[in-house]
This record gives sequence, C-alpha cells and structure tokens, in this order.
Amino acid sequence: MGNRQGRRQAQVTTIQHQPEQAAMRGLLQAVSDTLGHAVAPEWVEAAHATPRHQFLPERIWLNDGNDTYIPCDLQDNPSGWFAAAYANAPVVTQVCDGREPEDGEVWPSSSASAPSIVLQMLEALDVQDGMTALEIGTGTGWNCALLCHHLGDANVVSIEVDPEVIAGARTSLANAGRHPEVVCADGSRGWELRAPYDRVLFTCSVRRLPLPVLQQTKPGGVILTPWDNPWMTWGLLRLAVGENGTAVGRFSPDSAFMTIRQQRTDLRIFRDVVSEDHVPDQSETTLARRCVVAGDAGFSVGMRLGDVWHAWQDSPIEGVHDRLWLATTDGTSWAAVDHDGGEEDRFTVYQYGPRRLWDEAEAAYAWWVENDRPGPARFGMTVVPDGSHRAWLDRPANDWQLRG
Ligand SMILES: C[S@@+](CC[C@H](N)C(=O)[O-])C[C@H]1O[C@@H](n2cnc3c(N)ncnc32)[C@H](O)[C@@H]1O
Repeated sequence: MGNRQGRRQAQVTTIQHQPEQAAMRGLLQAVSDTLGHAVAPEWVEAAHATPRHQFLPERIWLNDGNDTYIPCDLQDNPSGWFAAAYANAPVVTQVCDGREPEDGEVWPSSSASAPSIVLQMLEALDVQDGMTALEIGTGTGWNCALLCHHLGDANVVSIEVDPEVIAGARTSLANAGRHPEVVCADGSRGWELRAPYDRVLFTCSVRRLPLPVLQQTKPGGVILTPWDNPWMTWGLLRLAVGENGTAVGRFSPDSAFMTIRQQRTDLRIFRDVVSEDHVPDQSETTLARRCVVAGDAGFSVGMRLGDVWHAWQDSPIEGVHDRLWLATTDGTSWAAVDHDGGEEDRFTVYQYGPRRLWDEAEAAYAWWVENDRPGPARFGMTVVPDGSHRAWLDRPANDWQLRG
C-alpha cells in the first residue's frame, strides 16, 4: 500500500515536471539563439535543476510593450504567468519599491532578469570550482541558485536591500534545496564578514564601483557589473582586480539593469533645476538631437559628459513640437534644445549655468565621430584604490577622469 502510494506520487511528480522541463529546454534554446552559441553544459545542468517559475511570486508585472506594467496573477492567469516564467525576457516581480504607485506611475524595482543576460553574465564571470562569489541584488534568487549549483552553497553569498524581496528569495532558495548565505543589507558596502571574494556579480547597475566591493575582491578576482550613466544606462563592465588593488576592464554592449538604490537620482526639471528667474543664453544648432542620446553615440557622449542627464518633453510651449532637456546631476547647469516640428533640422538652444551643456554634448559627439564612432566594446574603465574612476578608449593610457 505504502509502496503503491509512493509510486503514484512519483508518477504524478514526473507528469507535473514535464511541462516545466519542456519549457526549460525551449528557454535554453532561446537563450542559445540570443547568445549565438550553445549554453555551456554546466549551466544547462544548473538551469534544469533550477525551475525558473519556482522563483517567481504569485503576482508578477508584464510590460505591455509601451513600458506600462500590468499585473499578472498566477491564480487568475496561470498560463500567462507560466509563459512569462519561461520566456527569454525579464519578469518584473516588484514595483515602486513595494509601495503604492504615486500618480499611477508604476516602475519596476525588482525583477528576474532575462535568462540570456543571466547566463551571459555567469559565463563572463568565469567561475571555477572552489571559488567564492558575492552576488549583489538577490532579487528572486534564481541567479543565486544557479551560482550555488556550480560553486556549492557554502561558497556563495548574496545580498539584497529589500526585506520583502529577500524573504521571497529565501523561501524559493530553501524550496529548491539551496542554502547559501543570503543577507539583507546595502550591497554597496559589500559583505566584509565573508570577504575576500574571487568573483563579484552585480545584478543591479552602478554609476560608480563602490569602494568596499573593490576592497573585498581578491587580487586576480573579477567584478562584473551592469553600468549606469545618468545619460544612458547601458553596458556591462568586467573588471579584473590587480595585485595593487586597481581594477581595470572593458565594457560590452549588453544589458540595462535597474540602478542600485543608493546611486539612484530623482531629478525633476521643474522642481530641482529650472527656475523662473533663470535667463538662459540663446543660440541655434543643426545637429539633430537624437544623434547624441541613442546607440553607440549616446553611450560615448554619456562617457564623455559623465554627470549629465537628459529628458524629452512634448509640446513644452506654443510653437515648439518637442524639447530635449539636459541638466547636470547637481542641477546647477541646464540646456533646452527645441524643434518646431517642421521638416528642417534646425534647433533653438537655451543654456544656463556655469556649464554650456549643449556645447559639451556637441563636442562629445564630434569626438565620437573623430574616433571612428566607437561602440561600448572600445571603452573601458580603471578604478583605483582611492575610488576614483578613469574612463578610457581602446587602452587604459588613453583615459580621462569620469566626471561627477
Ligand atoms: C534585477 S534585480 C536582481 C535579479 C536577481 N539577481 C534574480 O536572479 O532574480 C535587482 C535587485 O537589486 C536589488 N538592489 C538594489 N539596490 C541594492 C543594494 N544597494 N543592495 C542590494 N540589492 C540591491 C533590488 O532590490 C533588486 O531586487
């Protein structure tokens, strides 16, 4: 009797597992297609041992394609929920830091990252048996579980700043039989108690590599982090830490992650920057504004400017179709570049404050053109032990101080 029940239980479990195993095979195929190569066998094994749906909360948010996030509940829409779990796309698992959205503005604050970027980052991390790893941004715990499968639970520490998010991750990890050290803390301080680490993986983007994390990485170790620039959030930075405690590495043109909480800026143009008594200088330009904010040029301009932010505004005043705002992150200088909506590329420029930001953006764009229009892969970063950051093009000697 007991045995028969056991067999029935085993059968049910096998049947229940079939859809997720098939879904995981489909997902890994999609990941391979995106990466352009087969996923390494050790990560295929880790993924099959780590069903992604088991790491998602019952409520997730789906992007409707216009950056509007719509809740999807397991109870109400199980097939939509399951499909999202095994799609090669990020799944938003928390919005607005877990608070009620203000003015109906729903923005993602935690997610399960897209599986292709998770696996790409794990490959780039180049973990070897016996190494220790620190993950900053536990989120759902899925990435952490994959790392544990490879390195063993005892060699992995994961930090998450949000208590509600970490509670879900701890439960999911335990249900999956994984027991790494999972710490609720600010990851920008690293985790001294278990340092030094061979590998550090950020799964939230940084504008500056936090100094404690650099200090807690072994010489010869690797730090991998998505990059955030006030101008444009793009690029994955892989830093190798040298014997002298300096980290040097290159960007690749991948990834856009949510910014680490301590480095977020909430700059509102009319609240924090522009005031009625400002009298800006006026001029004209013919450089199309979109050139400087997107693609390889946008990445490059962001690197050159360092501490400048931009935003678009539709129909700001009568006779102006749209306006590009630029401002320093300290709010002391700003520029506005207006187009009247006609066919001609002719723009009116207003600039205010100690810096002429549109002139700087034009100069940065000209530098990009002069240097054969480099993409992110030609850029790199050096972080010295005092924490200062020097960006460079092609080689570390060709560098400049990152502003801000
Ligand atoms: C993209 S999600 C992480 C995805 C996660 N690795 C996974 O597999 O699901 C980014 C996470 O970073 C967390 N985070 C943001 N700032 C942080 C900080 N200072 N320290 C630790 N975690 C932070 C967010 O709360 C969020 O859960």
